[in-house]
Amino acid sequence: MKVQVINGPNLNMLGQREKDHYGELTLDKINELILQKAKKMKIDIGFFQSNEEGQIVSKIQECSGENDFIIINPAAFTHTSIAIRDALLSVKAKFVEVHLSNIFNREDFRQHSFVSSIALGVISGFGYQSYLMALDAIDNIQK
Ligand code: DQA
Repeated sequence: MKVQVINGPNLNMLGQREKDHYGELTLDKINELILQKAKKMKIDIGFFQSNEEGQIVSKIQECSGENDFIIINPAAFTHTSIAIRDALLSVKAKFVEVHLSNIFNREDFRQHSFVSSIALGVISGFGYQSYLMALDAIDNIQK
């Protein structure tokens, strides 16, 4: 099984950025933990982060036919990007939406996601474990 992890803007700043919301770990460290788990599960996994909406759209398009699943944290684009929603729809991507923080108990503007209604599911609020839970969810769906 092939899975692509896609992270949106400012997630390259994890470890320095708003630690109360996003925890202490850097994105590299989180990716290392995801990779370790994926290896044990025999999942072939790729990692991508961009601060640019267009690059995320292009990466989603590249996943078409290449990946069985996407795990995506669109970060702030969650709440703004019809382009990312359209990209996910256009390639009929099966994806899990993840967030480190619980977007539903934060500011009003974070409580709407443009991608939740087309996701397999949403995992929000478990810090870096949200990504690990997404891997478990995908693995269970596959079985
Ligand atoms: C986030 C939540 C978003 O509202 C925010 O803009 C982020 C990170 C999260 O993982 O909790 O950058 O997606």
